[in-house]
Amino acid sequence: MSTPDPAPPPAGCPGCGTVNPPVARFCMACGTPTAQPAAAAPSGLRFVTVTFCDISGSTRLATSLSPELWHRVLGRYFATMRGAVEDHGGRVEKFIGDAVVGVFGADHPADDDAVRAVHATHEALRRLAGGQDGGVELSVRFGIASGQVVLADRDSSFAIGAVMNRAARLQAAAPPEGALADVRTWLLIRDQVRCTAVDPVAAKGFDTALQAWIPEPGARPAAARPPFVNQRPLLAGLTTAVAAALRRPGGSLLAVDGEPGSGKTSVLRQLAHGPAAAGALVVRLDCARDDHAQGRARLLELDAALAAATPGTATAAAGNGIAGSTAELGWRIGRRLARLSARQPLLLLIDNVQWASAELLQVIDGVPDAREAAGGHVVPDGCGPVVLVLAGRDLPAGLRRRPTVFGVPALSAEHGHRLLGLLRPATPAGGDLELHYTAASAALVARSGGNPLFLEQLAALSADGIEDLVAPSASAALGARIERLGHPARRVLGCIGAWGTAVGTRELSATAGLEPAELAEGIAELEQRQLAAGRPGEDGRLRFDCRSPAQVAYAHLALADRAELHTAVAGLLRGQAATAPGALEQAAVHAERALECERELRPGSPQQARAAELAAGCLVAAARRAVGRSDVRRAVELAARARESAADPALQLEAAAIESYALAACGRTADALELIDRTAQHTASAADPSAPDPSAAGPSGGNPAAVFQLRANELALRPAGPDAVRAARRLAEQAGDHASRARLLLLEGLTAIGGGDYRLGERLLDAAYGGIRSAGAGLGTAEVHANLALCLAFGDRPVRDALARCEELRRATADAPALHALVGCSAALLHAFGGAAGPARDLLEQAREVFTGIGNRAALAGLYQFRSAVEEWAGDPAGAAHWQRAAADCCTEAGAGAAAAGCLASAWLLDPRGPAPAGDPPPPGAGWEARVLHQQVEAVRLAARGDPAARGPIERSLAELDTVRGAGALLLPLTAALRIARAAPGCQDLAERAGQALAAARAAKLTGPEPPGRP
Ligand SMILES: Nc1ncnc2c1ncn2[C@@H]1O[C@H](COP(=O)(O)OP(=O)(O)OP(=O)(O)O)[C@@H](O)[C@H]1O
Ligand SMILES: [Mg+2]
Repeated sequence: MSTPDPAPPPAGCPGCGTVNPPVARFCMACGTPTAQPAAAAPSGLRFVTVTFCDISGSTRLATSLSPELWHRVLGRYFATMRGAVEDHGGRVEKFIGDAVVGVFGADHPADDDAVRAVHATHEALRRLAGGQDGGVELSVRFGIASGQVVLADRDSSFAIGAVMNRAARLQAAAPPEGALADVRTWLLIRDQVRCTAVDPVAAKGFDTALQAWIPEPGARPAAARPPFVNQRPLLAGLTTAVAAALRRPGGSLLAVDGEPGSGKTSVLRQLAHGPAAAGALVVRLDCARDDHAQGRARLLELDAALAAATPGTATAAAGNGIAGSTAELGWRIGRRLARLSARQPLLLLIDNVQWASAELLQVIDGVPDAREAAGGHVVPDGCGPVVLVLAGRDLPAGLRRRPTVFGVPALSAEHGHRLLGLLRPATPAGGDLELHYTAASAALVARSGGNPLFLEQLAALSADGIEDLVAPSASAALGARIERLGHPARRVLGCIGAWGTAVGTRELSATAGLEPAELAEGIAELEQRQLAAGRPGEDGRLRFDCRSPAQVAYAHLALADRAELHTAVAGLLRGQAATAPGALEQAAVHAERALECERELRPGSPQQARAAELAAGCLVAAARRAVGRSDVRRAVELAARARESAADPALQLEAAAIESYALAACGRTADALELIDRTAQHTASAADPSAPDPSAAGPSGGNPAAVFQLRANELALRPAGPDAVRAARRLAEQAGDHASRARLLLLEGLTAIGGGDYRLGERLLDAAYGGIRSAGAGLGTAEVHANLALCLAFGDRPVRDALARCEELRRATADAPALHALVGCSAALLHAFGGAAGPARDLLEQAREVFTGIGNRAALAGLYQFRSAVEEWAGDPAGAAHWQRAAADCCTEAGAGAAAAGCLASAWLLDPRGPAPAGDPPPPGAGWEARVLHQQVEAVRLAARGDPAARGPIERSLAELDTVRGAGALLLPLTAALRIARAAPGCQDLAERAGQALAAARAAKLTGPEPPGRP
């Protein structure tokens, strides 16, 4: 009998590596189709950087030294080389004679493999320079090359590929005690390592000479700052205003306004390094063209910049972690601004504000106004001085507050001449040439109209021998220059334009679609012509930020080129989805842009169909991510756009599943059901609870996971009974679909909670929690966390144990403020039950800050009810009643009239002053709490008149409580029952019954198997 093959390990997504459930048709993280075979890369193919080192003149040394000494020298040399390679994360591939080959990126490929290879090389040279045994000096040379190798399953000679030969050939041409790097390595390291180009190396076996660079030790110096002339009055005015505002607590809004190329960015740069900024913490933010479609990306960047300035704080979760919604992110930024500015004045410089997203404008508007503080008010949140300087071609209309605006004036003729002087190479003084330049300069300065960008470009044209006095604008002059560039340079510039934001060499190399040598040539030409200069970004890597030239180059691109570039950018960003927050939405923006181009260029073509699928895939993945962080409105938008683009029924189904879920979460139940029904017409099994296995091909559209989710959405909105949910759950289980199984377990759990069975609820939600954790954030994530926490508080789990579990949930949600706060409410109740009212109030106060900050009235209402419970348990019924009334106000504001009435009834029960509540019986579908409340109110009302009929409702309420499973849930209603029965005529027996039930619940919840501990 043969044993079956062990199941293959779950394959990662070909796009981002995420492991998905077997039924997933598209990656849960990045939306790449998983059903398709993985990219046709042979297994073991890796991109690596190779260092090849050899000793010069080793034959001479070997013959001149005694064999023992030579043996020792070589031993030390090999050890030194191995040490340098391994210390930098590389692996020694083999020793060939005296040559040592190191490979970087074979085991754990990383972004900086090439940089580490160069550092290892320099380190080896440094260690060897110390001399060897017996004063023997070894002269070594290195060749460094990057490229693909096939990895073999052995310890030596494990990497095979032409890159090895390239490194060897470069080694032979390298200077003594030096190294030569090939073009691919240069592209990978040039952001961080200063490199000097040398003549191409003619190499045996290679058709063309190899381009080569000498990597220098030490970091690449920052690019020199461009010249700056005049603007003294503007800078003086701004400096005074900023300095004054930096002394005032609260937010002050200033703006720098001017036509394209007038110098706004330059002025911000001057400001950041000028005297106004002295003593302030300066944070810079640059909006990009696509921000309206991906506003969250800029907020994440700002959040990260502020977090970096606050040691010990975490930034938003990347990829699959549970992140907070965009509103929560905005709230957190506001809080960071307040906290940071309380310690040190904050200068926030926001460039290109004409592209600012609505979300960013909201954050700007949210900073408390310094003028209110000046009027004697206390600035909320203890906010210190926050000065926002906005710069842009247009100031956004959507801002609530009008900023103080500073216009950038045109350069005077005198300053125009001065700038020209700085830009123009030194000219020989005197003579005809000087006269010519003076005349030409005057014409250029006049033509530029005082716009520095225009002048710069005219000067550059003139330096190329074109006295273009016809170009009507800076962009026209730029266009004329760009047309004269070689193809690679134009392509690189257009690619930067397609990205629409600062971009590094690595991204360029992955998306420009150029051979490495061409890319190198393009970058070199752009730098030489000063059309693109790399500047160090936040991550220390050089990034190209040349908005105007890149935009002009992009505008000159053919539609097909644009489509191709955006497709490449989308693909790259999608692959980063698992680790880079916001990458998915950016990928979706680019994919949609590619689709737009294709629609215009080749409607109905296979290219358009492919672009549509890419866009739909990115949109669906972004929508799922949005749902996972409770950004449900955004999810509706993204999913709807995905449905529009998708032709593949599987993707359509997936988009419909997400959209209907998000619609329901926005409170648009009817729209959600309508979409479910419409989708179900195409997929029989989605509509029919007794349908055959949806994982079968055919009616499921080949996407059973989406059909399960649609089914779960429908069951949540149109309950069909526990059997239907259980049946659907079993099918999801059989299909190995963790995410859908978790959703269906959640529904079962919610039904159990609704029926007052918190024990079962906890079991089911605990199982759902496990599923959610393995499947990653998505549909139902927030509900599972919040309701599991509720069950921990209301169920039988003893306080200490339940609190430990709650803490685990709080850690898992640390990056999602609202969900974290919701879980904190349950933890607060548990603290209160354990006798620790202080920590309970602290937790609820933290939650109040979040819910107030994001303006969630419904959550505030819930929070106040928790607060009421805490005060009641602490023995302060009047205080508890106060919080119930506060909850009622919130419910009323949120439009939940019935809930408000319930809160008022609870308040009256706690502190029966004033008229009794209406006492209408709860509607038929109401839960046990509403029924118990109604009976207790009734009992108090009758008891107050001394009416023996009070006994009836007390008895009924106790009978109702008998059906509730969960010690935590019983503590407060039984306390009330005891109080009411004691005060009612002839109900001593009922008081005793309530007292016994209460003691049992208290013992179960507080004592449990372990003694209760004060946390
Ligand atoms: N006062 C100045 N002195 C010298 N050069 C300047 C001055 N102002 C701007 N420049 C140069 O003009 C070019 C355009 O300037 P900058 O990028 O600051 O303009 P901008 O108004 O921000 O343009 P955009 O509207 O495209 O954002 C840059 O190369 C910059 O170095
Ligand atoms: Mg600018």
